[in-house]
Amino acid sequence: MNQWGERMENTDLAIFGRDRPAPTEPLAASRCFALPDSYRPLLQPWFNRWTLVYGEQPLRLPDDQREALARLLPVLLCGEQSAVVLFHHEARRLSAAARQASYHCFSTIEKDEFQHDLGLQALQRKLPRPQDLPNIRRRAKRFFARLGRVESTAEHFAQISHLDSAVAVIMRALEASEAARDRQLRSLVAQIKRDEARHVFISRSHALQLGIARSDYRSMGQQIRTQVLALLAPFGSAFETLGVDVDRLFGRIRKSRAE
Ligand SMILES: [Fe+2]
Ligand SMILES: [Fe+2]
Repeated sequence: MNQWGERMENTDLAIFGRDRPAPTEPLAASRCFALPDSYRPLLQPWFNRWTLVYGEQPLRLPDDQREALARLLPVLLCGEQSAVVLFHHEARRLSAAARQASYHCFSTIEKDEFQHDLGLQALQRKLPRPQDLPNIRRRAKRFFARLGRVESTAEHFAQISHLDSAVAVIMRALEASEAARDRQLRSLVAQIKRDEARHVFISRSHALQLGIARSDYRSMGQQIRTQVLALLAPFGSAFETLGVDVDRLFGRIRKSRAE
């Protein structure tokens, strides 16, 4: 039995214990933010397991939930793709400065974000294409691109910390939703939730280390939560269709603290 309580047979367990190079095919899918040329993607063991168990399985959701999830995924994907790029650049910058501990942290996060990206893309390929996909993607891309326009790297990491805290809240809500009866979806959002909670802590520590004042860190949190709620506002009915109480979800995002 695997960690999700499902039987696995005839599997190559040898691939589970280490990272391995990503195949090129999923990388060609259309992206909000292109992978940097210097990026050498690796697949983590948990992602190999998830793909092995669920890769060939359809998403077992009713049509209305399939459509709702299909509208929500491009926004989440855009966030993951922008995070891959940010952490890749920061890991390289820190590597050049020979700050090995931080380098390791950031390259690990970069890898996490890349698996989130691939996992959500894998779900997306099993769902219908929303009619307003270009609009959804354009809005999300604008949101994440604007995030990068801050005075300093410290501020950018403060933003990421607050943003990841909101993503963790969203993933927790999806994990507890009616749609999470589908194990494929539930196991992926549970993994993303765990990873994002760790990223909050690391990004916050890095922002403070780079010199952001605690009061500025807190006030940025307020701004980010307001912006995230505005970004998500048009998706209230999609959340409801998936079985998420949207008032409670938005209330939790409003009250979340990346401390
Ligand atoms: Fe992520
Ligand atoms: Fe993250």
